[in-house]
Amino acid sequence: MKTYISLIALASFLLAVWACEKAGTDNPFDDQIGPPPVDTTTVPPDMTSITGLHARIFAPTCANSGCHDGTFEPDFRTIESTYNTLVYHPIIKNNPQGDYTYRVVPGDPDASQLMARLTYDIDGQSGIMPLIVDQGAEWNTHSAEFIQYIRDWIQAGAKDVFGQSYSPLDAVPFMRGCQGLVQGVTMERAEGGAGAIRIPQSVDQITLYFSLADDKTLPQNLTVNEIRFASGPDDFFGQAGLQMEVLDNPISGKGFSDPVVAFTHRVTIDPRQYASLDETVYFRIYVQDSSNPLTEIPTNAGAYYFKNYFSFTIIE
Ligand code: HEM
Repeated sequence: MKTYISLIALASFLLAVWACEKAGTDNPFDDQIGPPPVDTTTVPPDMTSITGLHARIFAPTCANSGCHDGTFEPDFRTIESTYNTLVYHPIIKNNPQGDYTYRVVPGDPDASQLMARLTYDIDGQSGIMPLIVDQGAEWNTHSAEFIQYIRDWIQAGAKDVFGQSYSPLDAVPFMRGCQGLVQGVTMERAEGGAGAIRIPQSVDQITLYFSLADDKTLPQNLTVNEIRFASGPDDFFGQAGLQMEVLDNPISGKGFSDPVVAFTHRVTIDPRQYASLDETVYFRIYVQDSSNPLTEIPTNAGAYYFKNYFSFTIIE
């Protein structure tokens, strides 16, 4: 019996060696005549579509690590995040003239801040996108062609992945700025002006001003107009709201990205009721335009730097 089994084992071993040697010898491509077969299955990306632009430009050249990979906006990781953070998406940085409102305005490349960021230094100190290009990236040899593809896509209506043009029935309101005034003096902000409002602990009254914009409803005609405070950036559930005042005569001041904006909403509080020394309080506003449901600014999904901008810290 034992001999029988070892004979079988030997036979199968010899068979395997023979098969390998047989397989090892013939390279089916040796007798390949002419060029290797062309892969006809993969269709080259259509550069008139957001899918093609994402495949050859936004994903490889913009969403690289530490850049628009979710670290900051626009978010070029996926086709959807690219579309949602570009088309009719409010900008962060403007040129000194304040020419831009949205990153992409379908049908209007020249009004689209994206085209500006790809073609000139918007404020003389921010550089032209992409700020860094990886070696071997197609951008190095195709940049002019790629910029033209993006321009053509916008001109053709900036269609989404389904080939639909965005039809902004009524975009939701968004903020253009927020500032805190104590006896008419604008309080400084942390982090070079983009962070929390810094309020000295001696202050017992501060007025928070808000600048808002909407494509169909005048800011003064927005309704609800409430503000809520919370000790954490996302702890707003169940917080009580405070009514804000809407100004017939707005005041002007520095906006989040615009040099000058009109502040139409305000509320006066005693900051010490919300925080003690070195504590930070976050706030959100709730407004409603003529057709959309209640809009919360910012939201839980919003970038942290917006939540940080909508906060104050009690300092020495
Ligand atoms: C072709 C590829 C890229 C495109 C289309 C692009 C587009 C943009 C746009 C539209 C903005 C302005 C956002 C706003 O103000 O609302 C922006 C900002 C920014 N981008 Fe890019 N970007 C690209 C590549 C990169 C890369 C590779 C880096 C990193 C090295 C980078 C770093 C930044 C930074 C730091 C900001 C914020 C500061 C500023 O506004 O200058 N970008 N980018």
